[in-house]
Amino acid sequence: MQIAILGYGTVGGGVYRFAQAREDLSVRYVLDLRPCEDVQCKVTKDFNEILADNAVETVVETMGGLHPAYEYVTAALKAGKNVVTANKNLIAAYYRELVALANEHGVALRCTAAAGGGIPWLVNIERARKQEKIISLGGIMNGTTNFILDTMHHHGGSFEDALAEAQRLGYAEADPTSDLSGGDIRRKLVISSNIAYDCVIEEDDLDVWGIEHLTTQDIEACKKMKRVCKLIATSHLLEDGVAAYIEPVFLPMSVPEASVPSNFNLISMTGEYIGEQSFYGQGAGRFPTAYNVVQDCLDIAQGKKTFYTEHLTAAKVDNSSIRRKYYVRSNGVDKWLQLHIDKLLDKGIITEEVSVSEIHAWARARREIDPDCFIASLR
Ligand code: HSE
Repeated sequence: MQIAILGYGTVGGGVYRFAQAREDLSVRYVLDLRPCEDVQCKVTKDFNEILADNAVETVVETMGGLHPAYEYVTAALKAGKNVVTANKNLIAAYYRELVALANEHGVALRCTAAAGGGIPWLVNIERARKQEKIISLGGIMNGTTNFILDTMHHHGGSFEDALAEAQRLGYAEADPTSDLSGGDIRRKLVISSNIAYDCVIEEDDLDVWGIEHLTTQDIEACKKMKRVCKLIATSHLLEDGVAAYIEPVFLPMSVPEASVPSNFNLISMTGEYIGEQSFYGQGAGRFPTAYNVVQDCLDIAQGKKTFYTEHLTAAKVDNSSIRRKYYVRSNGVDKWLQLHIDKLLDKGIITEEVSVSEIHAWARARREIDPDCFIASLR
């Protein structure tokens, strides 16, 4: 199968290397604005050249970002070319439109690397769904934040030092804000949930709390409770919609997520009859991510045309029925917090059980008065 790679960066370069070593994939073009002296195929800056070339069956989008990735991918689908993308921003934002476009034009659209990086996560959701009703999913889906939390727990040091090390090692996004604030993991949860529950939920509807204001004091409070802090994505299928949220969680040491080291991911789904299945591995990086991109190309070459979702039914997100206790650190106690205190700590409080939607709404408002406040649920 002849492919064109859009973006010769970390992942695109990995795909090129893998494809060079195979007889069933041939790279006809690389599109990049930078010089790509080491490639042996045509290098172009003009996407129209690729679009007009009927020999290109599959466009591999590894540019990242929303634009021009969106314009290139939609044009490729309309021109009858399959698309493989690793771009979670694009898929989370335009899922419904892109899937519909691929169906309309009878081409494949695959995005296994967009959630889970090198882990065969989305393809296993797709596989499980053929037989099972998936009722919940989630876990550790961001390597940068796991690296920071793991480093602070086990080696001490400040948040800033751990972030600088994660950036030095290349785990973080170009702008780490989306890793730290939960934007990156939110996109992965949206994509996974849409595929698992055969629905469409919107990014903006999720409750999201990141770790950007985490301090060593919070880690110490967590350790005193003999727990481990992780940034966890969670979604559940409800009778009428989906519960979906991202938040730091103080986990007991006994659960598998508590032991996930460095920048690794651990993602699980629970099916009605199979129970829990977990997937562990590298959620980012050149070759792990390129591995899943190439697997998607091979699936297409073997005739796998369908994308994961059939019905594209909009589903509402409602986190009001999920109740948990929370660790809260804020500079003072307001009326709402006062009403829900279960236990006072040295420098924080534990709430009684409150609903996820209620405490997230409170924390978002509290942030206006106390920008550094921090919440984490207890499981
Ligand atoms: N910055 C992301 C992470 C990369 O740390 O997991 C993969 O999406």
